[in-house]
Amino acid sequence: MNTKSPLLTLSLTVIFCSVFNTFSAQTYSTFHEDVAPIIYNNCTECHRPGGLGPMSLITYNDVFVYGEYIEIVTASGFMPPWIPDPNYRHFRGERVLSTGDKLVLSDWVAGGKQEGNPAANPGVPTFTNESVLGVPDLVLPMPEPWVQAGDMTDQYQIFLIPTGVTSTTYVRAIEVITGNSAISHHSIIGYSNDPAVIADALALDADSPEPGYVGFGGFGVTLEDNLFGGWVPGSPPIEFPDGIGKVLEPGSYLFMQMHYGPTPVEETDLTTINIFTADVPVTRVVGVATLSPFSFSEPFIIPADQVISFHATLDIPVDVSLVSITPHMHLLGKSWMVYATSSDDQDTIPLISIPQWDFHWQGMFTFPALLKIPGGYTIHAIGEYDNTTNNIDNPFSPPETMTWGEFTTEEMFIVFAQFVFYQEGDENLTFGGGTNNCDPAALQSAYDSGYSDGVDSVVCPEVCPGDINSDGFLTAIDLLGFLANFGSVCP
Ligand code: HEC
Repeated sequence: MNTKSPLLTLSLTVIFCSVFNTFSAQTYSTFHEDVAPIIYNNCTECHRPGGLGPMSLITYNDVFVYGEYIEIVTASGFMPPWIPDPNYRHFRGERVLSTGDKLVLSDWVAGGKQEGNPAANPGVPTFTNESVLGVPDLVLPMPEPWVQAGDMTDQYQIFLIPTGVTSTTYVRAIEVITGNSAISHHSIIGYSNDPAVIADALALDADSPEPGYVGFGGFGVTLEDNLFGGWVPGSPPIEFPDGIGKVLEPGSYLFMQMHYGPTPVEETDLTTINIFTADVPVTRVVGVATLSPFSFSEPFIIPADQVISFHATLDIPVDVSLVSITPHMHLLGKSWMVYATSSDDQDTIPLISIPQWDFHWQGMFTFPALLKIPGGYTIHAIGEYDNTTNNIDNPFSPPETMTWGEFTTEEMFIVFAQFVFYQEGDENLTFGGGTNNCDPAALQSAYDSGYSDGVDSVVCPEVCPGDINSDGFLTAIDLLGFLANFGSVCP
């Protein structure tokens, strides 16, 4: 006969559960041990005094206050800001949290945001505004500082910077040093050596009272090179492998578009471009292929109250190696999907997917290593636009029919693909110096510049693991993919 009353069962359960909870509470993540390393590596660069983010995430208290909110914005992928889908293609300087990191954050919140042992805190990293590549050969600052009013608006401004070189100069690395990380969102650098183009741009500058001139969607003039370089917060400088790079000619100018984010107080910026010249002559100059409305047959018109997409194609006649990819559209932009296909459609090489375009977080996205596109392949770019009232960024209410133009109230469809003509062995050339014949330091630096999956040291494999991402090539990406899954390169 069962003598236990339901009440007794219930109270035993309650006692058992609370005892169990007390024990299990000790296994929750704590701030200093588990959370601080994730925040410092992924958030503090922007969330610190003088950083781009609206508040600091440094101390236990800072992070405690925002705990639940941090769980939400990281789970949704809103933070850290990074618009390409990392499951489609990895890029240098990638800002993404691993699933493991996200679990640690939600576990910490679930466990009551415990502090843990302050002695275990890894220490706040130092964020330097100095070159990470040593002493630059050319230091090219904006000609005048920019003063951004404290009126909470965005600004897109073009600055003309004379290169001042007196002979043909080979460039092996380009580094952007922001003068004010509280407002600098991104920069895109163009190049011209054409006196007529430079004169037109100088006239635009002279007509505009403030330093530089406004350039929301383009440079205002037609440049020989629309993509000399680019930068977003946290992105490493571009370092080309030996023999590959850019060239500066006497009389040339760099055109730097700066995007300044909104600020409640007046801020000043003087951003500098550092140029590192090459000892080895640049024999393979990085060019830019472009997909634009010239690459599709219908007119580029986005009717009011419609969601519409355009499909551009570009046939690749000979083998090329891609350096970077930069999709560009304005405020009606909704998504991008860019890939290359073989002529028989049996092979697809993913290039970039941006499932939710955000004009404010655009950038130039550099592949970790040169990416071969065989001759005969076709690059496809599908850009989607939302010209309805559902798009909160729509500059018109009610929506208006939009077409091509450089202004906020006009639209664009461009994909810039930086490339060089392919040479044997290109797929082993990484950006960041040296070849990747498994130099642990090179691998570690590629790893540090964007891959954080809870592994913090890298060893060279005895036997390489193979083509993990099955793109037909064995590259650093494969090694890193292996690392992410198994924690070490080869078991
Ligand atoms: C590249 C710079 C950058 C990085 C890296 C970054 N943030 Fe942000 N964060 C911002 C900016 C700028 C905003 C303001 C909203 C916006 O502009 O999108 C913001 C907003 C936020 C907000 C909302 C604050 C509010 O008051 O609305 C939270 C929470 C947040 N970030 C948390 C994080 C966390 C957690 C990380 C790291 C996992 C992170 N951020 C990484 C720049 C950054």
